[in-house]
Amino acid sequence: MSFQDLDRLSLKISQLNEQGLLRQRRMTESPCQPQVRVNGQTLLAFNSNDYLGLAAHPLVVAALREGATIHGAGSGASHLISGHSQVHDALEAVLGNMMAAHIPAAQALYFSSGYMANLGVLSALADLSKGDITFFSDALNHASLIDGIRLARAPCHVYAHSDLQHLTELLRDCGTGTKVVVSDGVFSMDGDIALAKELLRICEQQGAWLLIDDAHGFGVLGDTGAGLLQHVGMRSEQIIYMGTLGKAAGVAGAFVAAHALFMDWMVQRARPYIYTTAAPAALAHALLTSLQIMASDEGRQRRAHLTELIRAFSLLPMPQTWQKMHSTTAIQPLVVGSNAAVLKASADLQAHGIWVSAIRAPTVPDNTARLRFTLSAAHTLADLEQLKKALLALHMPC
Ligand SMILES: Cc1ncc(COP(=O)(O)O)c(C=O)c1O
Repeated sequence: MSFQDLDRLSLKISQLNEQGLLRQRRMTESPCQPQVRVNGQTLLAFNSNDYLGLAAHPLVVAALREGATIHGAGSGASHLISGHSQVHDALEAVLGNMMAAHIPAAQALYFSSGYMANLGVLSALADLSKGDITFFSDALNHASLIDGIRLARAPCHVYAHSDLQHLTELLRDCGTGTKVVVSDGVFSMDGDIALAKELLRICEQQGAWLLIDDAHGFGVLGDTGAGLLQHVGMRSEQIIYMGTLGKAAGVAGAFVAAHALFMDWMVQRARPYIYTTAAPAALAHALLTSLQIMASDEGRQRRAHLTELIRAFSLLPMPQTWQKMHSTTAIQPLVVGSNAAVLKASADLQAHGIWVSAIRAPTVPDNTARLRFTLSAAHTLADLEQLKKALLALHMPC
């Protein structure tokens, strides 16, 4: 690297700082729980995606420990070489069975992360119909879907957020070839739920695939936590489903589930599955326990409690200048506006013992910087009372 490059780096970083766009990591000193130690301070956190409170659940932690004892620390190779263990296979079988009610002949593949899963599924799709595939992507889709489509090097039409009319027109104008509609299940920065049934109806009319990224729905939505497809009661072999396992499931990784033939193709072509060391088998071992909890009565109770928290959150008094977004999920964003204002709001709340992250561009559109509150079944109603006191103490007109 030349001196010139170093100067440019220094300039770029100070520009980000001036614009209120510099991202910084805070260091936690305790497990993922509502009460966390951060940079030496104990805070009440509203910013993890641990929606069911399983990340530090004693049974899941014990299963991880047991998994390491049985399977060792690392998998040693990629899935197609020697890293695919019995327990990875068992996890994929459980996930495939969970999805079988919604996708005929469903099978699942376990990836190291949701980001990798999305890159894998989109590039495998593009490889299936080389030069003859078009993606249709919701304007608010997650970065990993956007990056996956870029990596696929295929044409993509972006439709206005949840605008079915716009999507239908784009599909109609597109001609022949493979078509894939791509949507978050629960939108990660707004918290609203995709109009999944309507999307499927349009896909069925147009002979398109529907790829649902249910990173924030899996575990949270549906009677047994099977996610958005269960929540709305959908079933079709045109669905490709991605669910993450590091959020509500509390561990790490993600899975793609689809018709067995497509999953066979994924094993041949999903480069982020093939060309990376398999996640430690101990994680798969722990996930089997967390999936059991998720589908059990305890899982139901945790989801019911989360629903109660979401309702209590909706009743909190908010400063008039902040705009509550319409969300019925555990993601409850409050749009503050400018970068400077959201950073101040986040710092003020921190001074009152609350940790909530300030989300700015490019993650969200300019001038819609927001506090993204996330709720977890590990929170209590008393935690929301503490948040209420902090909001009232900010001396903002409520
Ligand atoms: C909608 C969505 N998809 C995919 C991902 C990526 O998942 P992972 O964190 O497992 O890489 C995220 C993560 O934040 C997400 O919000």
